[in-house]
Amino acid sequence: MKTPGAFYKPLAIGAPVPFREPPVSLERMIHFVPPHIEKMRAKVPDLIHKVDVVLGNLEDAIPADAKTEARAGFIQMAKDNEFGETGLWTRVNCLNSPWFLDDLMEIVPAVGDKLDVIMLPKVEGVWDIHYLDQLLAQLEARAGLSRPIMIHAILETAEGVKNVEQIAAASPRMHGMSLGPADLAASRGMKTTRVGGGHPDYAVLADAEGTGTRAVYQQDLWHYTVGKMVDACLSCGLKPFYGPFGDFSDPEACESQFRNAFLMGCLGAWSLHPTQIDIAKKVFSPDPAEVAFAAKILAAMPDGTGAVMIDGKMQDDATWKQAKVIVDLAKLVASKDAELAAVYGL
Ligand code: GLV
Ligand code: MG
Repeated sequence: MKTPGAFYKPLAIGAPVPFREPPVSLERMIHFVPPHIEKMRAKVPDLIHKVDVVLGNLEDAIPADAKTEARAGFIQMAKDNEFGETGLWTRVNCLNSPWFLDDLMEIVPAVGDKLDVIMLPKVEGVWDIHYLDQLLAQLEARAGLSRPIMIHAILETAEGVKNVEQIAAASPRMHGMSLGPADLAASRGMKTTRVGGGHPDYAVLADAEGTGTRAVYQQDLWHYTVGKMVDACLSCGLKPFYGPFGDFSDPEACESQFRNAFLMGCLGAWSLHPTQIDIAKKVFSPDPAEVAFAAKILAAMPDGTGAVMIDGKMQDDATWKQAKVIVDLAKLVASKDAELAAVYGL
């Protein structure tokens, strides 16, 4: 284990000093763009005003014979646009692929000054983060960058889930993690072909009562992993995210999956289709009624101690902290979204 002093030192001479606290930014949806398709790149100027994060995807879903074009397309879209408050991320190819090294070697010198986060797929343990951490420091130093590029791990292998706590604590460069339900299902040998969401056969059967039909209650396949990821992330000050929801024809199920993740602590999800942008915006912006109630708690307990009753419900130091989580998030949303700022009255 590194000594505390060494943990926050740059890993290469001339590399930027690592963040002590990750920058505070609103990241309700990470919108995936396939950068090898010119028509998709042409939508980026418009997307910048609609989403919180634009991500150029270089990994899965990009055909092997388009990998080089996707990389070049990402560099082009990064150069062609000013992203302002909107995050610019890329999902690079995985570490054992033939493309990863060139992804890093070409992207960091070309547009590293604009890049906020690198999403690293199929992370299995701390060794993956340490390797990318060191390589990024070397490339940042060589490119003369002044701001560190952060790492976001996809939790999508059985080994990664087993090692999630060490992954979260691996480096001050860690931004957060996303659940990758498709790869994770394959890695674990789960018997589903879906990308996220529930499965009708993963259910609890109600007790038999007479001869009537027995009720079936579908369960959340991802509950355990989301819980484990949220604890690993929040204990290290990182941000947890739900990843992809593949059934674009079922916005209700997408909303429900996103909402479960939100309630459990996640701060955003991936949007793979334009319709999922608004779903994520709705779900990951706190509900105005909840914000109003939380604001009432904070106002009733200005120093955050003691006990009061509000609308028949007991409030104390712990509920004050719960309320603060909601109000702080609402303030962050309001700082970007004038419409919601008015609704929240913030
Ligand atoms: C995402 O990459 C997934 O595998 O679900
Ligand atoms: Mg995956």
